[in-house]
Amino acid sequence: MTQETFVTHNEFRSDTFTVPTKSMIEKSLVNSTFGDSVYKEDPATLELEAKVARMTKKEAALFCVSGTMSNQLGLRVNLVQPPYSILCDHRAHVFLHEAGGLATLSQAMVHPVIPKNGDYLTLEDIIDNYTADDGDIHAAPTKVISLENTLHGIITPLEEIARIAEFAKENDIKMHLDGARLWNAAAETGHSLADYCQYFDSVSLCLSKSLGAPMGSILVGSQKFIDKANHFKKQAGGGIRQAGIVTSMAITAIDENFDKLKIAHAYAKKVGKFCTDHGIILESPVDTNFVFIDMKRNNMDSKYLVEVAERNGVKLMGGRIAFHFQLSEDSVNRVCDSILECYNYNQEHPFVDHSKNNKKMYNFEMLQRHLVSH
Ligand SMILES: Cc1ncc(COP(=O)(O)O)c(C=O)c1O
Repeated sequence: MTQETFVTHNEFRSDTFTVPTKSMIEKSLVNSTFGDSVYKEDPATLELEAKVARMTKKEAALFCVSGTMSNQLGLRVNLVQPPYSILCDHRAHVFLHEAGGLATLSQAMVHPVIPKNGDYLTLEDIIDNYTADDGDIHAAPTKVISLENTLHGIITPLEEIARIAEFAKENDIKMHLDGARLWNAAAETGHSLADYCQYFDSVSLCLSKSLGAPMGSILVGSQKFIDKANHFKKQAGGGIRQAGIVTSMAITAIDENFDKLKIAHAYAKKVGKFCTDHGIILESPVDTNFVFIDMKRNNMDSKYLVEVAERNGVKLMGGRIAFHFQLSEDSVNRVCDSILECYNYNQEHPFVDHSKNNKKMYNFEMLQRHLVSH
């Protein structure tokens, strides 16, 4: 199968739908190395790991099969002996979308927090919610603060991260970053990956979202940290033999596509502005490559939006719209048309969501109220 087999110019369901470019296949795949990366003998994998370690100014890096694996390994290595808890945003991928891995792999309690500003966690949110390791035998002390940058496309400012990191250091709490899309934050703000990574003990960066590598993610930290992560990686069945086939493409993905992420941000901002110009309420600011339409407040029906989009030749999965550099301008315009058609229809026929997901949100809000009142 060739790259042309796959259609990405109209794919807005996720930035994970980006595909390897011709150059990745012609330049990298053909010249790939075939050493055994479990034995640390594959030159392309070693080169990729050294390259990302350099870019993040960390001692070492470890190529993993997925962002879920590098997050779970990173958090697990940061935790030593339960009982303990991980404090994170209530929308965090590590909490909601990693199949409960923190409970089974790390035996960790998760303390999800709703940021007061609605967008990103601040030091004040952390201070209000962390559990001190003060000898209270009823509690599970916070041992890791896990941030996500970007989260829903929202950038957590560097200054805020610095404040949180200082507090963490003072209280002997480790810092992990789910930096699946740290590339996007860096491309947008002009801060380097290293500027962000300096505040974290471990950072997971995805290679297959937006950058277009066919698979994988990379975990960075100190050499000792990465050695332990590699141990857990092998235990989880994550040892890859001829990894060079994919890591060689990841090197080209970084070299050639990092600079292209701003194209995706411009598309997202265009759609975000189109929405607000038409009175369509967004859930969050469009800092990078996502638009989140507030379907509930706009009385909009996700299923109908997907149907309209399909008729217009573009793929959506609801009010969460992802952008990447392999989209076409024409498809972006078709997304705008689809949103407006759905919005106009639902102003005349307001939609009330009785779905399971809505109930899940309701239950979560109940849980938050319970946590706050105790
Ligand atoms: C923020 C974030 N972190 C981690 C992951 C996990 O990546 P993977 O799908 O490679 O396991 C994702 C996947 O979409 C993500 O959005």
